[in-house]
Amino acid sequence: MATQGTSIWSKHQIFEKHSYWLMLGILIVISIGGLVEIAPLFYLKSTIEKVEGMRPYTPLELAGRNIYIREGCYNCHSQQIRPLRDEVERYGHYSLAAESMYDHPFQWGSKRTGPDLARVGGKYSDLWQREHLHNPRSVVPASIMPSYPWLAQTKLDTKHLADDLKDLKLLGVPYTDEMIANVQEDLKAQSTTDGDTASLDKRYPKAQSRDFDGNPGELTEADALIAYLQMLGTLVDFKLYDNQANVR
Ligand code: HEC
Repeated sequence: MATQGTSIWSKHQIFEKHSYWLMLGILIVISIGGLVEIAPLFYLKSTIEKVEGMRPYTPLELAGRNIYIREGCYNCHSQQIRPLRDEVERYGHYSLAAESMYDHPFQWGSKRTGPDLARVGGKYSDLWQREHLHNPRSVVPASIMPSYPWLAQTKLDTKHLADDLKDLKLLGVPYTDEMIANVQEDLKAQSTTDGDTASLDKRYPKAQSRDFDGNPGELTEADALIAYLQMLGTLVDFKLYDNQANVR
């Protein structure tokens, strides 16, 4: 013990004898680890790889998404296909980060009472979706999904949609001033057959336009929700990227 008091290790006693110094020391050491991992993320331009085809939601799809959230569909449905063989075989190509980059909040979900919906677009006809939302048992006899008969009877409230686009723009979704100014025109173009679909398509490539709820006279909540469901998973052309989905 001749060296006690002279070696720098003897200073370690301060941590061994005083728990407050020990806690402070632990905090400093842990925060170095945190800084090294977290700080660089603030300086990266993007942590999400860009994928061709992704675009912001059209006003009608966004209205549908709002209804999806309002009705709590995410409580039973995920929108995230994991890169595991059984999921890829059942639902299609696993989800890419870029596919939910414009989602605020994201709809990945954490529970699957019903199937994943990330690629449900185009899987069924509008008529099927309509009947299914009205009464799931009419098309899937053993279904335990609740009925949503009011959607087809409720006029879509579009008053605040332009504000929704502005809010999302603040959060980084690339809505242009032109998109925000044309919300009502784009709504009309997408939900009827006689609208100006050329400008809609220019602003929102691959937008599907038609009467979704089988009631051309009225723009209902069912129109919006079905437009949203029919779009899910259809924007990215996976033939351009795909090696994985063919894994067998
Ligand atoms: C209580 C849980 C529950 C809720 C809430 C729920 N669903 Fe479902 N959903 C299910 C179940 C279970 C199925 C599978 C049986 C069927 O097809 O009806 C299903 C199936 C579906 C399907 C067919 C998927 C496929 O690939 O076959 C769609 C589309 C769908 N739901 C949309 C919705 C929407 C939109 C909402 C919100 C308005 C919603 N669900 C709310 C449980 C739920």
